[in-house]
Amino acid sequence: MLKRRSFLSYFSIGWLVSCFPVALAACAPKSDPNAQAPTTGDKGTTKPAATKTTEGFTVVGSVAALDKAGYLQTKEVAVARDPANPKQLLAVNPKCTHQGCDVKWAVGEKKYECPCHDSDFAADGKVLKGPATTSLATYPVKIVGTQVLVKV
Ligand code: FES
Repeated sequence: MLKRRSFLSYFSIGWLVSCFPVALAACAPKSDPNAQAPTTGDKGTTKPAATKTTEGFTVVGSVAALDKAGYLQTKEVAVARDPANPKQLLAVNPKCTHQGCDVKWAVGEKKYECPCHDSDFAADGKVLKGPATTSLATYPVKIVGTQVLVKV
């Protein structure tokens, strides 16, 4: 009887020890080698987790997405082509300087419109129509390869 108990004890401990590495592997965080940065949506908006790059510039989307939607916009930055020089990009802070609503780029009219009290801003952030009296903050913007980068 005693030998049987000893055997079962040793067998149970051996079984637990052999399962431990499998349990550890199952609980370990998985890394996805195919994981990609968030992509730009159809309407020119991007997810917040943009990629930081050198010199403080951050990728906000692709040139293709910008040209498809007519603009790129995140919570922190909005990018559109300069209506006077379409090769030039202009980046602004999309928070309205009146009371902080998010402005939207009106593709057809080539200006930022505030939905709250109807202020309008040019692509370079200058006030076109109040009640806002202060221009939108601007940021350096550049194209590197196929990506639009902004220094916020
Ligand atoms: Fe934009 Fe008032 S918050 S016009």
